[in-house]
This record gives sequence, C-alpha cells and structure tokens, in this order.
Amino acid sequence: MTGQQPQKIGAALGAVPETALWTLYHRAVEARRWDTVLPDPRAVELVERIDYPFEERFGPDGGVIGQIQALRVRAFDREVADFLVRCPRGTVVCLGEGLETQYWRVDNGRAQWLSVDLPEAVALRERLLPPAPRQRLLACSATDPAWTDEVDPTHGVLITAQGLLMYLRPTEVRDLIARCAERFPDGTFVFDAVPRWFSRAASQGKLHDRGYTAPPMPWGMDADEQWKLATAHPAVAEIRDVLPTGGRGPVGALLPYAARLPVLGAFRPSVVALRFSARAGRGGAAGTAVR
Ligand SMILES: C[S@@+](CC[C@H](N)C(=O)[O-])C[C@H]1O[C@@H](n2cnc3c(N)ncnc32)[C@H](O)[C@@H]1O
Repeated sequence: MTGQQPQKIGAALGAVPETALWTLYHRAVEARRWDTVLPDPRAVELVERIDYPFEERFGPDGGVIGQIQALRVRAFDREVADFLVRCPRGTVVCLGEGLETQYWRVDNGRAQWLSVDLPEAVALRERLLPPAPRQRLLACSATDPAWTDEVDPTHGVLITAQGLLMYLRPTEVRDLIARCAERFPDGTFVFDAVPRWFSRAASQGKLHDRGYTAPPMPWGMDADEQWKLATAHPAVAEIRDVLPTGGRGPVGALLPYAARLPVLGAFRPSVVALRFSARAGRGGAAGTAVR
C-alpha cells in the first residue's frame, strides 16, 4: 500500500452545467454536519474527488444555504419515495440530474432510473457515478422530445426536474409540461421554480455567492401563480404545492410559516407536483402560456 489518494477528476463545465457543482457542494456541506437534515455520504465523497475550487467559488462551510438546499432535496426525495411505494417497479426520470445522488438515498431495489442531462454534465456523471444496473444515463436536452422515447411507462412514471426549469425559456417550460402530460398521461412531474424576482436578479447578474455569479434564469414563477400550470395541457389533473418539512434552528422554525404569509408567501421558491390524467379536464385551456 502506498497510501496514495485516488487521482482527482477535473470538472471544467459551462456556466449552466456548472450549477450542478453548486448544488452538490451545498448538499455536501449540509451532509457533513452531525445534525444534518439530509445524510448524503455520496455527495461528500464526490466533492472530495472532484478537482474544483469549491470553497473559493462557493464559500466556506456554514450558513443556511446548505440547509435550505437540503430541505428542497428532501421534498423531492419524499415525492420519489411515495411514488416507489405506489409503483415499486416504476421509472424515475431525472431531468437535469447533474451530480444528484438521490438514487443512493431512496432507491427501492426494483425501480428503473433514467438520468437526462446535457452531454458535458452526463460525461462527468459517467466518470464519477457510473450507472448501476437499473440506472441509465442519456445525453439529451430536456427540451428535446427524444428522451421520452427512452421511457417505458408500463409500471408508472415519475419525472423530476430539480434545479432545472429556471434555466429554460418560458415557452420551453410550457412545452415540456405539455409533452410530459401528452406522453405520460398517468404520470407525475415534480419540479421546482424560483420566484420572478429571483429570476430577474439572476438574469441581471446580481446573484453572487462568494467568487461565483449564477447564470441567467429565464423562467420564474411566483408561488401564487401555480394555478396557471393547468393551462399547459388539459391532462394536468392536480397541482400540488410541496412544502418543505423539518429543518433545524431558525430555518426549521420559520419555514412552515413562509408559505402562509399573505403577499410575501408568493415570493418564495416552490416545489410543485403535477399529476396527469388522461381523463382530466377535456375542456381545459390547452395551449395557453404558463407564464
Ligand atoms: C442546478 S443544476 C441541478 C442539478 C441536480 N438536479 C441537483 O439538484 O443537484 C442544473 C442541471 O440542469 C442541467 N441542465 C440545464 N439545462 C438543461 C437542459 N436543457 N436539458 C437537460 N439538462 C439541463 C445542467 O447541466 C445541470 O446538471
């Protein structure tokens, strides 16, 4: 034994795929705490294996970003875990999955997993997290209908888009929802949205985290606009606001109230679950803009 460390893997990514390193880092920061709200040893290990100036770019450990980020991730984990109880052999499609490690947190040993991301993000994931037998990686834009042909809907489909839709244009978001509703009429689509003020700030280059400036986020949606999502396709049967639960300290104490605040409650980020049904709203407002 030489005691040599395994060679680190470089991550030179374009501005939007690089955002996957930001979310990974904050998950790892949170996971390292003894009182973490999201145990995620894989994320910690990945940050150690990637040759990237995480602290220089995103700041040292500490602060509330990691916890808020982890609570968002927990909301997604809960939705996926519930789906796997209903559809144990179903398919989980993760659009814009980046270096998410959800499979290792919630897999049930029977489901199929399809990860869809841009080619450079997939190339990095393939090196760091080679797919297990029930996992597939697909280098394809979420806006390209081609990925839907790779999904077997026989045992149920759940599509997630965690930290993705804000990087798409509003028409692309509407088209993506409509396509999912059309192709997976009994499926569910879970995604998060940033409020409009946040999308504006990002697009003006005003979102800084230490040495890092977030790229433009063309799509934003205030929490009180969720009802508009029904206009993307008549098969949108249910729109559910997935609220964060748990949390420690002031974040844990305040978060449950944030959604209930009059007026201000609309200006928060949201996680939304859309359930599709072929039988729903045949007289719905197809083709109307989400935004
Ligand atoms: C903020 S990261 C989120 C990564 C991961 N879902 C997470 O929460 O840690 C955004 C991810 O979306 C991917 N992405 C951006 N635009 C995309 C597109 N058009 N199609 C597929 N993936 C895209 C990026 O490459 C990146 O992996």
